[in-house]
Amino acid sequence: MAISPSGQDGAATPATGDGAVIEVARLRKRYGDVQAVDSISFEVHRGEIFGLLGPNGAGKTTTVEILEGLRSPDEGTVRVLGIDAAHHADRIKERVGVQLQTAALYPFLTVVEVLDLFRSFYARSRPTAWLLEAVDLGERRHAQTRQLSGGQRQRLSVALALVNEPELVFLDEPTTGMDPQARRSLWDLVLRLREGGTSVLLTTHYMEEAEQLCDRVAIMDHGRVLESGTVEALVTRRFHERAVFFDTLPGLSVPELEQLPRVERAMLEDGVTVLYTGDVSATIGALLGRAEQLGLEPRNLGIRRATLEDVFLDLTGRALRE
Ligand SMILES: Nc1ncnc2c1ncn2[C@@H]1O[C@H](COP(=O)(O)OP(=O)(O)O)[C@@H](O)[C@H]1O
Ligand SMILES: [Mg+2]
Repeated sequence: MAISPSGQDGAATPATGDGAVIEVARLRKRYGDVQAVDSISFEVHRGEIFGLLGPNGAGKTTTVEILEGLRSPDEGTVRVLGIDAAHHADRIKERVGVQLQTAALYPFLTVVEVLDLFRSFYARSRPTAWLLEAVDLGERRHAQTRQLSGGQRQRLSVALALVNEPELVFLDEPTTGMDPQARRSLWDLVLRLREGGTSVLLTTHYMEEAEQLCDRVAIMDHGRVLESGTVEALVTRRFHERAVFFDTLPGLSVPELEQLPRVERAMLEDGVTVLYTGDVSATIGALLGRAEQLGLEPRNLGIRRATLEDVFLDLTGRALRE
């Protein structure tokens, strides 16, 4: 399907350059009594990996399915690659890749047969060998899909999302059911896609996945976006302090450590000293200077920050992981 550059889509801006590949504004969707998506807004920029992060039931899949044109919204607007996804999903299909959360994919076809079938749906497609290699299913190429493990089936569904060399890929909980090794190799694949210029919207309820992969995230709960931004911004917006830690130095007391620049609190924990500071470099600089005067050197010096898990806990009072 060709999309004319002049566009018949009203105010559609062709999504080229650094523009948004997804624009969601005041989107709402209700199923019976359940307000699954409750007036959410966010944008995904071209070339980034964007994460919708939230626990089961947050409304992630509903949002993604509306963006894919599989469900219609009750209210709000959704634009994908500059096109109104609620009314012109057919114009988007050639240019996006969709990983479906379906268990049964033509159970009696082999991996290669399913890939070739999907390739036949598109004017442009990636070679089967590329797809097999990308998701590490070469050894299972002649297995029927019903014979695949859960993780292998999941990898096949990711490969199917990449068949048409899409500009934008939707991955809904792509690593669910994968062992840690398969998960890491899928993370590598997602990072490689970004290197190749592909934009990615993924959903996850794994904090670590969001922290490893996502340029920006939106944290969802009960159909709402609670906060969005870079992981760094979300964490530092809420937790200004960082922790500088090192093996406790004899001769440096807590009151003395608390006099170092920007240190808000000093604590000793099991032979480790922890300094909570608003300015890591100022604190470390002064610490090293003071230690040197005493003829000491801090060992195992490190810095840590709060994580997205702390952010979610702070926003909702609940841990993200059940
Ligand atoms: N087809 C449906 N019919 C009725 N309720 C649904 C349907 N799909 C999802 N829901 C409900 O909508 C809410 C959001 O679900 P979903 O979008 O699947 O969230 P997530 O993907 O974050 O787990 C949940 O309360 C879920 O039970
Ligand atoms: Mg879901």
